[in-house]
Amino acid sequence: MIKSGKDTIFASKLIREGKLVAFPTETVYGLGANGLDAKAVARIFEVKKRPSFDPLILHIAAIDDLHTVFKRPVSPLIIRLAQKYWPGPLTIVSHCRKSIPDIVTSGLPTVAVRMPNHPVALKLIRQAGVPIAAPSANLFGRLSPTTPEHVKEQLTAVDYLIEGGRTNIGIESTIVSVCSDVIEIIRPGIITEAQIAADFPDVKVVSEYAAQIVNAPGQLKSHYSPNKPFYLIDELPSELPNYVGLILFNTMRLPAGANCKVNLLSQNGDMLESASNLFAALHGFENDSAIEKIYAMKVKDEGIGTAIMDRLNKAAYRFTSLMVND
Ligand code: TXA
Ligand code: MG
Repeated sequence: MIKSGKDTIFASKLIREGKLVAFPTETVYGLGANGLDAKAVARIFEVKKRPSFDPLILHIAAIDDLHTVFKRPVSPLIIRLAQKYWPGPLTIVSHCRKSIPDIVTSGLPTVAVRMPNHPVALKLIRQAGVPIAAPSANLFGRLSPTTPEHVKEQLTAVDYLIEGGRTNIGIESTIVSVCSDVIEIIRPGIITEAQIAADFPDVKVVSEYAAQIVNAPGQLKSHYSPNKPFYLIDELPSELPNYVGLILFNTMRLPAGANCKVNLLSQNGDMLESASNLFAALHGFENDSAIEKIYAMKVKDEGIGTAIMDRLNKAAYRFTSLMVND
C-alpha cells in the first residue's frame, strides 16, 4: 500500500530528495520526479515498467518558467499559446535548453512542457521549486488514472500519492509541437484543432497525429489498453449478454433481451462530460470480474470526439484483428 495524503509540503520535499510523488492534475494523475535530476527521472521508467524510454512532460507553475526549460529566446508564438491556454490541458513541445537531462527528452533536441490547471499540482511544483517530470501515473500500456484509487491499483513503488479526488477533464492534454511558425498538433485533446485555429487565425495549424510515431515516440497505437477484449462498434449488436460491458456516449434504446452492463458517459451526448468519464468507465469494467468483454459505441471524429476516438482506437488496437462476436 502506498503512502497517501494531502501534504504538499512533505511531497515537495520528497521531490527535491529525488523521490517519486503521484499527484492530481486537471487531466489525469501524474507520476512526478524532479525533472532536473536524471536519477530520479529514471525511477519513473522503472516504476511504470516502460520497456523503452519515452520522453516525458515537464510541469511548470508559471509562464515565466518557460525560459528555464526552452531554448532562449522563447518564441513569441509559444508565449502566446501559453498565455491563451495556461494553466490548462495543453502541452507545448519545442527546442530545449542543454540543462534538461536526456532521460527527460529521450535524447531529443526538444522537450514537452505544460502548466497544469490544478491547485494541488501548481502548489506542489511551486513548493518543489523545480520543473516536475511526469507521465500519467499508470503502468506501461494501461489506462491513465483519473482517481487516486486507479493509481493505487497499478503502482506500488511510489513514495507518496497526493489525494485530490477525481480529475475533471479525464483525458490527457492536447500536445502541440512549435518548432517553427507552425503549430503542429501531435496528440488530440480537449483543446481541439478547430479551437486553436480559431484562436490563432494568423498561424498555420496542422495535425500530425494521424501520421503517428515520428514526432512522439510514446504515441504507440496500443498505448491505452484495457486488460480484456475491447471492441469499438458502429451499431448495437443484436445480442448483449450479461458478461458484456457496454460504453455509450448518448442515451440509446437497447435491443430486446439485452442484459449487459451499461456505462452511459453522458445522458445527452455531451462530449466533454463523456471524456471526463471515459477512463473511469474502462477501469470499472476492467475491475468487474463478471465482465468478459467491453464494447464502446464509436463517436463522431470531430472536435472533442477526435480526442475520444484517439483514446478508443488505441485502447482497442490489439483487439481489432478479432471479430466482434469472438
Ligand atoms: O495530461 C497530460 O499530458 C498528462 C498529465 C500527467 O500532465 N501527462 C501525460 O504524459 O499524458 P505521458 O507521458 O503519458 O504522455 C506524454 C506524451 C508521450 O506520448 C510522449 O511521447 C510525448 O508526450 N512527448 C514528450 N516529449 C516529447 C517530445 N520532445 N517530442 C514529441 N513528443 C513528446
Ligand atoms: Mg500516458
